[in-house]
Amino acid sequence: MPKSYSLVDFAKKRFRLAGKAYLEDGDPFFAPTDSLRQQAAAQGGHFVSFANYDYLGLSTHPQVKTAAATALETFGVGALASRLVGGERSTHQLFEKALAQFIGAEDALTLVSGYLTNVTTISHVMGSHDGLFIDELSHNSILSGAKSASGQTIVFRHNDLDHLDALLHEKRSGFRNVLIVAEGLYSMDGDIADLPRLIEIKKRHGAWLLIDEAHSIGVLGTEGRGLCEYFGVNPCDVDLIIGTLSKTLASCGGFVAGRGPVIEWLRYTLPGFVYSVGLSPVITAAAQTALHLMQQETWRIERLRWNADFFIELAHEAGLDTGPAIGRGVVPILFNDSHETLAASRHLMQKGYYVPPIIQIGVPKDQPRLRFFLSATHTEADIRGVIKLLARQAGESRATSHAQAAAPETLG
Ligand SMILES: Cc1ncc(COP(=O)(O)O)c(C=O)c1O
Repeated sequence: MPKSYSLVDFAKKRFRLAGKAYLEDGDPFFAPTDSLRQQAAAQGGHFVSFANYDYLGLSTHPQVKTAAATALETFGVGALASRLVGGERSTHQLFEKALAQFIGAEDALTLVSGYLTNVTTISHVMGSHDGLFIDELSHNSILSGAKSASGQTIVFRHNDLDHLDALLHEKRSGFRNVLIVAEGLYSMDGDIADLPRLIEIKKRHGAWLLIDEAHSIGVLGTEGRGLCEYFGVNPCDVDLIIGTLSKTLASCGGFVAGRGPVIEWLRYTLPGFVYSVGLSPVITAAAQTALHLMQQETWRIERLRWNADFFIELAHEAGLDTGPAIGRGVVPILFNDSHETLAASRHLMQKGYYVPPIIQIGVPKDQPRLRFFLSATHTEADIRGVIKLLARQAGESRATSHAQAAAPETLG
């Protein structure tokens, strides 16, 4: 009989394995950002966050706040039941129509979380004779969807479409339906999939394609319509577009968009929609207003692009490693090890820049990083300031390692 544990001992053991020791010199996570911001203002300093994916800076827009407050007064807080059986507010479908139109899909359905949208959609669509082909750097919600799906999951190397093509050649005939899943803008690396090629591959192999646009709506394309606009392809060539309301759309929730009959089927059968409460009317109103503003105040998209270009340009000038990032909303700075990453994060925090370390949790152990979310609200000074600190620190650690390498000779 294998050894069993109390849940408390099990949790302690698991947390130790997950890297609890990294927290011993101070926990860089769960920073109390509101009080840090207040403290900084009271002391005449600054607090700049690169940790939030409010890409267009709409979460505090007066019109977004007013829309939420008005919906709160009119409808109350919650949706109070699953929309299928509890009924819906007029705003639900209006928002979904606006969202679908913006993306270029025939219809869309909103759910209470972006994470849930991936899990429930992937597992619902896949049957036991089906094959799911996912990128190795897929977001955890896609991996969870794959785990819950009854078909077989096959992983292709990150953004390596030759590998995907070869795997499909080898395995396609063994499956009934095949779903390929990729992301619009990868949230840890800031790189993108070659969508035209993905579409060509999926058509040739008779597969379906799901693109998770969580980080690309509002970020990619001149009008922020995502990966399809970026590459100038017809969104109807993508079978399922998944996204979230928690990033550019400044609130919380997820959506799935696609052809009319597909979304109609999901509206009556998707477990994460049917057996879960509808989107709060407050959130719906906030997200709808953010969607509207994004189309009105297009300077925000332009500004985000400028900021991201500027960030990556300065980072490269400073010799910092930004990995494969294309220089849009997400740019990582890669470090040699987790301790160096933690030290850099703590140093930045002391100087008023919040950039939490991404170590072990979320990325492979050997690729620790500081992950920067750029926003249209960052100023040139914010970007110069943070890169200058990082460059200085990188210079110091290079000097230390050279000195260490040289030490035996000088001492000898
Ligand atoms: C690619 C991707 N998909 C889905 C999600 C889940 O979205 P949400 O946080 O809105 O639940 C995230 C979260 O950051 C993500 O990065």
